[in-house]
Order: sequence, then C-alpha cells, then structure tokens
Amino acid sequence: MSQSIAVIKGDGIGPEIMDATLRVLDALDCGFTYDIVDAGLGALEAHGTLVPRSSLEAIEKHGLALKGPLTTPIGKGFSSINVQLRRHFDLYANVRPAVSFPGTRSRYDNIDMITVRENTEGAYMSDGQEMVDDGNTGISQIKVTRKGSERIVRYAFELARQNGRRKVTALHKANIIKTASGLFLDVAREVASDYPDIEFEEMIVDNACMQLVMDPYQFDVVVTTNLFGDITSDLCAGLVGGLGLAPGANIGENAAIFEAVHGSAPDIAGKKIANPCALLLAAAQMLDHLGMNDKGTAIREGIRDVLEKRRDMVTPDMGGSGTTDTFAEALVEYATAR
Ligand code: NAI
Ligand code: MG
Repeated sequence: MSQSIAVIKGDGIGPEIMDATLRVLDALDCGFTYDIVDAGLGALEAHGTLVPRSSLEAIEKHGLALKGPLTTPIGKGFSSINVQLRRHFDLYANVRPAVSFPGTRSRYDNIDMITVRENTEGAYMSDGQEMVDDGNTGISQIKVTRKGSERIVRYAFELARQNGRRKVTALHKANIIKTASGLFLDVAREVASDYPDIEFEEMIVDNACMQLVMDPYQFDVVVTTNLFGDITSDLCAGLVGGLGLAPGANIGENAAIFEAVHGSAPDIAGKKIANPCALLLAAAQMLDHLGMNDKGTAIREGIRDVLEKRRDMVTPDMGGSGTTDTFAEALVEYATAR
C-alpha cells in the first residue's frame, strides 16, 4: 500500500521548493501519494482561515505532513500557524539535525549533531497566559512538567540509541531558574539512568553556547526545553552554514510534520533562486522516520555530491549559478543514476 502524505506547499518560496522536493522524491521511487492541502496566506484567501479544518483532517488521517514555510500575517488576531499545528497534534519533539555539507560558508567541517527541543511547553505558552502585561511590567511564565520533560528526554535517548550515537547532553539553567529548569534537569538525570549504554552530560545553556562555538565536536545529541532549544538549534544551523541547510521535524505520538527551518523568503519568492535543500533534508528526515533510511541517505548524499561537483546547478545563496529547478534536476540525475 502506498504511503499518503499531506503536503502543504506553503507561501512565498514554498511552492517552488516543494515542487523541487517532490520531483526528487518521485525520482527516488518513494511510492508516495501526495494529498495537497492549503494552509497559510493562500488558505486565508481561499477559506478565510490560516489553517482550514480540512487540512488538519488530512494531516490527522495520514499522520504525516511535509510542509513548506508559511507566512503568518503580522498583527493582532493571528497566532503562529506553526505553533497552532504543534499544539493541535501535540508534536512534542522538535528534532533538528545540524550536519556539515561541502561548499557552504561553515566554519567547521564534519559536524554531525542533533538538537531535540521540547516543543509544547517551556516559555512558549503564549495565548495571553502572560501573568502581567500592564504597559510598565511584563511577566511571562515558564511551564515545565515531569511528563513533558520525561517524554522529550526519553525521545532523545531512544534517538541516540537507534542511531548509534554515544552521548546525550541536557542543556538547562537550573542554577537560576530553579523550579522549572530544575525539574527538567532532575527528570533528565532520572531518565538517563535507564540508558547506561549512552553517556549523559548536563551543561548550563550559556556555557553550552560558548562550547558549541569553540568546539562543536564534543556534542552529539542535545536535549533541552523549548526556548533554549529554539536558540541553540539556530546557533547549530549557523555552525553548518545557515538556514538554507537546516531541516526540522515536529514529532508527536500520532502525527509528524517535516519542514524547512527557514521562512517563506518573500524577498526572493517567484525568482526561482530559492535553495530547496532544507526542505529536501526535511523530506530525508521523513524517509528515515518511515524506516526508508536508504532513500533518506540518498537525498543527503545527493546534496553532498551536487554541492561538491555541480556548482553550476546550485542556487546563488550557496555560491552557485543555478536555480531551484537546476538544483532539483541535478539531484534527479543523481537519484536515477544510483
Ligand atoms: P526567512 O527565513 O523567510 O528569510 C530570511 C532570509 O533568508 C531572506 O533574505 C531570505 O531570502 C533568505 N532565505 C530563506 N530561505 C531561503 C532559501 N531556501 N533559499 C535562499 N534564501 C533563503 O525569514 P523572514 O524574512 O524573517 O520571514 C519571512 C516570513 O516567513 C514571515 O512571514 C515569517 O512569519 C515566516 N516564517 C515561517 C516559518 C515556517 O513556516 N516554518 C519559519 C520562519 C519564518
Ligand atoms: Mg526558531
């Protein structure tokens, strides 16, 4: 039976990079059926809402979505679509690999690490749950639960075990934010004791930022709460050459959404120069998630090969002279020659 996937092409450069990505998936004979659904600005125009009910139902039905970047209109009344989707499907694990590729502006070679960020609680509660907002004082809340911490830390250890990784580092600020970050650290230590085969390390988050820049090779799998993970995973993207190569998965018990980390890039939309790599790498994460690791690896190796040998086919942000389409074409050639 072929696997069905909800596909949200997205706004801005979304449709361009999604078409490129689907071409490559087809060239790899993944056997997917795509259920193209609306969300974002396009949906607002067509259905009067940023996330139509029918799109949520499609994601629920297939349990999987590949998502292009969405533009959340600025102004009151619109809460982030990404946050809405994470909440709706309880996508508690945000998994962001940071892997070096050739020909990027990265300061390091051969980085290969994964950030596992808690995606549903922490400092990102929004929805007016701020405690005080009177124009003079702003007080926001941080919510950390035992359940939320346990499932994210366990997810990180399971990921480490399944991928033959050696170490999990928990980032925290338990020395200052004693209650919320302290609980996260306590739970991380408890869960770690269930995984004696994997080294456990704890590190205060500000020190971790310095360590990441000084010596990223000491890290393998990093697990942390929402806000810290948001920041440190972008730092990690910077270590490997920026957002053009940064994919992310949002994973829950019943659904998973795979996306590029970058936004809809309105400044280059329609110019056919958007780099499709981040979305392609998200598709590779989806293939791994489905147990089709050989095809996921083929995407990563294909990107490596094209970045190394086909500079004329690569998009300008990577220093090439090609377009979104030539990049996809080079990858299709790689996939079919396999
Ligand atoms: P952005 O990531 O869209 O763009 C930042 C810069 O990076 C721009 O100069 C852009 O041209 C460049 N860029 C981004 N992706 C690129 C690619 N694939 N190839 C080549 N260059 C690329 O961030 P910005 O401008 O802050 O946000 C634009 C819109 O995207 C906003 O409406 C924001 O809400 C939305 N957004 C959506 C996200 C999502 O759906 N996951 C994530 C981040 C932002
Ligand atoms: Mg972020």
